Amino acid sequence: MPDISALYMGLNLRNPIIAASSGFTDSLSGILKCEEAGVGAVVLKSIFEEQLISHEDMYDKYINIYPESVDYLREGGLLEYGPQKIYQMIEEAKQKSKIPIIASINCRSPKLWPAFAKQFQDAGADGLELNIYSLPLELEKPCEEYEKEHLEILRSIKSAVSIPVSIKLNHQITSVPYLARRLSEAGCDGLVFFNWFVEPDIDIKNLTTRNTKGKGDFNRTLRWVALTAGRIDCDISSSGGIMDGKGLIKQILAGSSAVQVCSLFYAKGLEPVKGMLTELESWMAAHQYESIEDFKGELSFKNQELSFKNMGEAESYFRSQYLKTYEK
Ligand SMILES: Cc1cc2nc3c(=O)[nH]c(=O)nc-3n(C[C@H](O)[C@H](O)[C@H](O)COP(=O)(O)O)c2cc1C
Repeated sequence: MPDISALYMGLNLRNPIIAASSGFTDSLSGILKCEEAGVGAVVLKSIFEEQLISHEDMYDKYINIYPESVDYLREGGLLEYGPQKIYQMIEEAKQKSKIPIIASINCRSPKLWPAFAKQFQDAGADGLELNIYSLPLELEKPCEEYEKEHLEILRSIKSAVSIPVSIKLNHQITSVPYLARRLSEAGCDGLVFFNWFVEPDIDIKNLTTRNTKGKGDFNRTLRWVALTAGRIDCDISSSGGIMDGKGLIKQILAGSSAVQVCSLFYAKGLEPVKGMLTELESWMAAHQYESIEDFKGELSFKNQELSFKNMGEAESYFRSQYLKTYEK
């Protein structure tokens, strides 16, 4: 039987499937259900800074800085998921579950990131995922500034904690490999490709805007994993459109150390995890791979660049393939 254990940012996973940050990972029972279903690790539902400032003193202090958060807080939804509750949940989960627990943070103010991070570490989290949620929409703000913000947040957290830290990237910010290299050189242990946003839509009958459920883009993730993996000293996990065992295998071939799954669970529950793992094992046995490391990155750009003068299979990751694919 092939060994399907995986190593992701220094954490030993019994297999490479991670339950992504979502409603499936926001409670102790959710974590335990994910473990029972067979996943290798969980990323907790992100904690948002706005939740922390719900405390009266903090509320007064920050409300002047972030007036827009008032409405957000008044809506109250997120308040049910307060930080104390999460720290306690992590402590309990660490007693009851054996799989690694990665906490996820989303902050706006630079000072709060390390404070949250330290508390998660103290509660027993095995790792941290930074959900840096920024859209590059300003006309006067160049990519370098967004990159700098990522680096500053990472550095502040790395100096506050010793557990591994990953960043969930937004694919629209800048050159993905360039930012990935800089983050990796600044000590980032893992990168998640990519963050996901609720998508905008327009109602043409009522002339209003509305939000629509987005979905992760499997092929975009595959492209950037393949073009980055092995070129930086940092693990990558794929997040976006992984819906079956084949998707899992493809992302590892492209260079991912692990994959994060979310929409599949919303569509079909946690049931499919076992089937995905069985497919992975059978495929590895058929190809005589004994471990994940045997084929991780086998079809990454790095490998292809080294193996073939004319890029070989790696051409698929570039735009030039457009003409070939569509020519008759
Ligand atoms: C209902 C829902 C809630 C989510 N909540 C979070 C969150 O709190 N933090 C986060 O980083 N990602 C969150 N995500 C994004 C997922 O973790 C994942 O990155 C994304 O859905 C892409 O993967 P998929 O194609 O498998 O769904 C959420 C996604 C969904 C559908």
